[in-house]
Amino acid sequence: MATESQPATTSVSSASVDERPRPRLHVKGATKHFGGRVVVDIDDLMFCNHPIEGLIGPNGAGKTTLMRVIMHAVSLDGGTVTFLPADGEDPKVLSKMPAHAIPRLGVVKSNQVTQDFDRLTIWDSLLLSVAEPSDEHPWQIYREPGLFSDHEEEIRYYLDYFGFDDPSRFARSTGEKKLLDIVRCLLMRPRLLLLDEPTAGLPDELSDLVMDLVRERARTDNISVVIVEHDLRIVWDVTDYVHFMAEGEVLLQGDPEWVRSHNIVAEKYLGGAHV
Ligand SMILES: Nc1ncnc2c1ncn2[C@@H]1O[C@H](COP(=O)(O)OP(=O)(O)O)[C@@H](O)[C@H]1O
Ligand SMILES: [Mg+2]
Repeated sequence: MATESQPATTSVSSASVDERPRPRLHVKGATKHFGGRVVVDIDDLMFCNHPIEGLIGPNGAGKTTLMRVIMHAVSLDGGTVTFLPADGEDPKVLSKMPAHAIPRLGVVKSNQVTQDFDRLTIWDSLLLSVAEPSDEHPWQIYREPGLFSDHEEEIRYYLDYFGFDDPSRFARSTGEKKLLDIVRCLLMRPRLLLLDEPTAGLPDELSDLVMDLVRERARTDNISVVIVEHDLRIVWDVTDYVHFMAEGEVLLQGDPEWVRSHNIVAEKYLGGAHV
């Protein structure tokens, strides 16, 4: 099915749209099957013509798989994902690059499930995210001159912002790990940031803190952000543009208000209950 875009005549240009050229992603002819079933089937999709975009859709729509495809954690069966850096640099075909090279380009993703804060203290896990460990001696990072001093202020800022008073301890809860994962993504100086359910399981006050921070970084640093989010309160509130995905395809794209009121969204997703 072809993607239905909001007709230009009804498009309301949002006051928050930032006119600077911005890093974008182009997904072209992308297909992915799991066990014979199509999970991603995208003809032509541009992400990040707007500073903060939402990707919504029912469970199993393929949103997380698409995010993982972009990061080349999952390989496509066909098609390409290309990063358009926006600052005169050549486009980079992410779907042909090794996954570890992608964050170095500034394309960074949060994890829907955070796993690796269990063996490192809060402080060490954040330092690790800003280090460039050699493959042979990853633990040498702690001897890198400047690693600590170059990032201390920034790390302390984020820890204070989220109220972590003792970074020498381990993260305790899933919620804490999610917050630290967001911090880790921001410390990596993203140009294009993918957030997969960044606020799932967080109480509203913390969700708001996360989204305020993301909004602020997007505005100040010209970071493009794509948020996969079930909490539609956040989607309608924070995003400048929304893509609606179901059964592997992007069916609709437009302003949040337009997508919100479209009957396909009500039919396939909301059931009238979540709006
Ligand atoms: N590694 C995998 N192996 C097999 N099936 C998978 C795998 N990852 C995801 N799927 C399936 O792909 C479909 C889309 O999943 P997902 O991308 O997680 O959807 P969403 O994030 O929109 O809920 C689901 O039916 C899921 O079970
Ligand atoms: Mg998902």
